[in-house]
Amino acid sequence: MFDKKADTALPILDELAHRWSGRAYDNDRAVEPSSLTRMLEAARWTPSCFNAQPWRLVIFDRFQDPEAFEMAVGCLVEANQSWAKAAPILILAAADTLFGNGSTNRWAAYDTGAAIMSLSIEATRLGLMVHQMGGFKAGEIKTRLSIPDHVDCLTMIALGYQLPKDQIPEALIEREEGERSRKPLRDGFFEGTWPEPRD
Ligand SMILES: Cc1cc2nc3c(=O)[nH]c(=O)nc-3n(C[C@H](O)[C@H](O)[C@H](O)COP(=O)(O)O)c2cc1C
Repeated sequence: MFDKKADTALPILDELAHRWSGRAYDNDRAVEPSSLTRMLEAARWTPSCFNAQPWRLVIFDRFQDPEAFEMAVGCLVEANQSWAKAAPILILAAADTLFGNGSTNRWAAYDTGAAIMSLSIEATRLGLMVHQMGGFKAGEIKTRLSIPDHVDCLTMIALGYQLPKDQIPEALIEREEGERSRKPLRDGFFEGTWPEPRD
């Protein structure tokens, strides 16, 4: 696997450091159904407000259902289509914005994002790569799948095995080799008051 380990100030959990959003997927390699089930199981056990579990995931597997996969690819913006169509699986991550009693769940997106992070960590553990995309036509996929109004379509997610480094196409190599970066800790992590940096 093409290693893009985060340059962390102190050691952190291996899977957190190694997770990254690459774009060079192995077009020929399917994801084992048992691996997919493990990732969904990881997502299922995510904490959520009132344990409402608002995440709703739709799986599009190119090897199992090419037609549904094509439809999902068609709902990505072009820049994402160009690389994400090589992934064996796309996942639509949506969130039910209503609690069971009909009131608004304002933590629905928060909890769904957490579930996708759980899925991503389990994927990394299994040697798989996850790449989330906000660049998709949410209205179009919502209509095509007849998703109810109170469910928000949040992201599309590419999932699969990475291509070995020596097989990465020319068009992708520069981006794949680009440095991973983060803002300094002081920009987002405060101590006691806003916005007093913690360091
Ligand atoms: C909600 C969300 C939307 C994103 N949308 C896109 C996208 O449309 N296209 C893309 O190539 N990457 C997208 N990304 C990937 C980010 O650019 C990437 O996570 C960020 O640059 C950090 O890189 P890393 O995940 O490798 O650490 C998205 C990530 C998230 C979490």
